[in-house]
Amino acid sequence: MNINIANTEIKKRGFLDLDIDPQLDLFAEIEKLKKEKNAILLAHYYQEPDIQDVADYIGDSLGLAQKAAETNADMIVFAGVHFMAETAKILNPTKKVLLPDLNAGCSLADSAPAPLFKAFKDKYPDHLVISYINCTAEIKALSDIICTSGNAEKIIESVPVDQPIIFAPDKNLGAYLNKKTSRNMLLWNGACMVHEIFSAEKITKLKIRHPQAKLIAHPECEEVILSMADFIGSTTQLLKYTKIDNYQQYIVATETGILHQMQQASPSKTFIPAPPNNSCACNDCPHMKLNTLEKLYGCMAYEVPEITMEESLRLAAKKPMDRMLEISRAAGLIG
Ligand code: 13P
Ligand code: SF4
Repeated sequence: MNINIANTEIKKRGFLDLDIDPQLDLFAEIEKLKKEKNAILLAHYYQEPDIQDVADYIGDSLGLAQKAAETNADMIVFAGVHFMAETAKILNPTKKVLLPDLNAGCSLADSAPAPLFKAFKDKYPDHLVISYINCTAEIKALSDIICTSGNAEKIIESVPVDQPIIFAPDKNLGAYLNKKTSRNMLLWNGACMVHEIFSAEKITKLKIRHPQAKLIAHPECEEVILSMADFIGSTTQLLKYTKIDNYQQYIVATETGILHQMQQASPSKTFIPAPPNNSCACNDCPHMKLNTLEKLYGCMAYEVPEITMEESLRLAAKKPMDRMLEISRAAGLIG
């Protein structure tokens, strides 16, 4: 396949659909490509275990942004979703940033279309805008500071208490942060399809069946789930908690990909995925799970799909990202 054919294929499908020899050792091939191309492979915890195992760095959104900003590799291969790869390009524009499947979006980012958000923001000219990193570059460009679930409290606390704030796009995280910081931020009505699916009723039953288990939850979950949780944190914070805590069983209310690292770090402990309110595997993120080892290999071999962006948009989106990185650095926060 030549580069032109690869680009046509990307326009058609959003990823390269290669006919890969099933005998090929994709782990070894990906390692080889990393060295050949001086590439770093960054993966989110929600990626499938095979991808996590071949990654150079696995992290939450804060850690991934920090790594993308500081790397001196020539190529950043992002095993995550579109807004994450876009964030890497915003922070480190001279690198070639690749995403194995351009269709890997995010329901939370989709819940805040830029024109609608701009009209909303214009109604409150005295408000400062704090946006969760799970948003498009256009929303970042309309924001004053970006945050992640790992640093949101510190970011909000850096703003004077009498300053009115708009928080976007996650209403669940926003409501949780309003409680934690005693603020009254105006919330955009967005949510993550994965974290809204957990069933309080089924978790209650599960807790009765496993009385020795703690419930740990991501703050993108609804209030009813968070009110039942023993610990709430970003994916990195949840993982760290399970390493240092002395319980042996955990019901985990976030995307199931994180269980791979939890189980590896604490092989003797039991991790139970929190049940969704129906019988599908809806607590698997359909966007994150679009990436596969095969697509990853094709993407690295042919260097497509690549993330590109208008320089004016990149610069506007970088300002609130830099603010976030500065506040996180000053607070000693690493994802
Ligand atoms: P963190 O990894 O930052 O906790 O975010 C979770 C998430 O939903 C990413 O899409
Ligand atoms: Fe977006 Fe939710 Fe998937 Fe994270 S888990 S990428 S917030 S849809």
